[in-house]
Amino acid sequence: MSRDLEGLRRDYQIGQLHEDDAESDPIALFARWLGDAKNTTQLEPNAMTLATVDSVGTPHARIVLLKGQDGRNFNFYTNYLSNKSEELTACPLAALVFWWDQLERQVRVEGVVEKLSDKENDAYFQERPRGSRLGAWASRQSEIIESHDVLTKKMSQLEDQYPTEIPRPSHWGGYRVRATRIEFWQGRSSRLHDRLDYRFDGMSWIRSRRSP
Ligand SMILES: Cc1cc2nc3c(=O)[nH]c(=O)nc-3n(C[C@H](O)[C@H](O)[C@H](O)COP(=O)(O)O)c2cc1C
Repeated sequence: MSRDLEGLRRDYQIGQLHEDDAESDPIALFARWLGDAKNTTQLEPNAMTLATVDSVGTPHARIVLLKGQDGRNFNFYTNYLSNKSEELTACPLAALVFWWDQLERQVRVEGVVEKLSDKENDAYFQERPRGSRLGAWASRQSEIIESHDVLTKKMSQLEDQYPTEIPRPSHWGGYRVRATRIEFWQGRSSRLHDRLDYRFDGMSWIRSRRSP
């Protein structure tokens, strides 16, 4: 094992998470923590790891961007023909992980996944920059391609095809993860971190503290 890696060590000291200070509603606590993260210099404070499983139970994880959050819903957009979408069709459950390093905080979300409506997809698609909208047509996400040139050639064809309006491809859209569990982790000294775990029982959120 590399000695360099063994020696990489950080003691977390900047914050604490006490029951008395934490909102009883995890959605409110999430909003506060996301707001704190937006006030740091983190490149993408809304980036989250999305974990899914395929039809044989193999886990897959990748980063996507949180693009909407209301109530228990955590929304992201992607390609409905991608590997992740195939996995979500086979098993509509997902886990999300946010890591806000400057705040020494992690949030884990788990829940059931549903597709967003055409109306929601159209509304967000039309807000995206022109390049991203054309990119949604150009990329068959997750497929094997010969080289990057395939994409640039496709993009110039699309520029001619859609000089003004760009319709949303039916294979592009979003998902909502309807949270049933949200855990907040604040790094503490000597690895004695704070973990507040909220579980949704169908009516309300039940909070417990977990050992680090
Ligand atoms: C910072 C960052 C943000 C990303 N945001 C998205 C996103 O919002 N949607 C998306 O489909 N892929 C996004 N990706 C790319 C994914 O990580 C992944 O490569 C892609 O979705 C294909 O995954 P799949 O083959 O497992 O379906 C992002 C990657 C990074 C590093």
